[in-house]
Amino acid sequence: MPTLAPPHKSLFYHRLSSWYETFFSPFFMARIHATVPALNMPAGSRVLEVGVGTGLSLNAYPHNVQVTGVDLSAAMLEHAQQKIERDGLHHITLQQMDAMNLEFPDNSFDYVMAFHLVSVVPDCDRLMQQITRVCKPGGKLVIINHLRSERQWVARAMDTISPVTHLFGWRTTLSYEELIRPVPIQVLRRYKTSPRSLFTVLIAEKLKQEE
Ligand SMILES: C[S@@+](CC[C@H](N)C(=O)[O-])C[C@H]1O[C@@H](n2cnc3c(N)ncnc32)[C@H](O)[C@@H]1O
Repeated sequence: MPTLAPPHKSLFYHRLSSWYETFFSPFFMARIHATVPALNMPAGSRVLEVGVGTGLSLNAYPHNVQVTGVDLSAAMLEHAQQKIERDGLHHITLQQMDAMNLEFPDNSFDYVMAFHLVSVVPDCDRLMQQITRVCKPGGKLVIINHLRSERQWVARAMDTISPVTHLFGWRTTLSYEELIRPVPIQVLRRYKTSPRSLFTVLIAEKLKQEE
């Protein structure tokens, strides 16, 4: 039996799910809604979004792909489900699931998305291994997150506030190198949507076996 990492309790988001969008949409929504359509997903693509939360991203997916959203928090998923019903998003289904132990076979999805999750889970290596495992060879991993800044003063400021953000369930110290290290991927694009943004968009391809 492999040793499993303990699941994140996700209580911060669970308890505060009702005001999550009020607080976070202004920071997260536009970047997600610029990133997803720009991928030009082919019709019929199978897409997994881990840590889908209240579904800020759901309206960004084209209706001709098949999306599965998973999250640990039932309360967050309830909001996402209401959105699916309200907006007739019949191409999207939700499941309560721990991203650290994804219950999907290897090589299941053409795209695996993780928005604002990699710094929330207790073991980022394990999350990266899980999302890479369920991605098809040649499939895409799409990650949006704040990563450790290359500007030293910003990195130091983030280190300073890290004990506080830990209380709210996320860390500010995760670096790009640490993120991509444990998995066989090739980074295709890594960019910020504005020069001063703390958030990075990362698009990577899972290597095919022979690569
Ligand atoms: C910062 S929110 C991001 C939500 C959404 N992706 C967005 O961009 O608005 C983090 C989400 O990850 C979920 N989460 C935390 N740990 C998780 C885990 N181990 N498995 C699945 N979801 C998890 C939380 O419940 C929460 O909904």
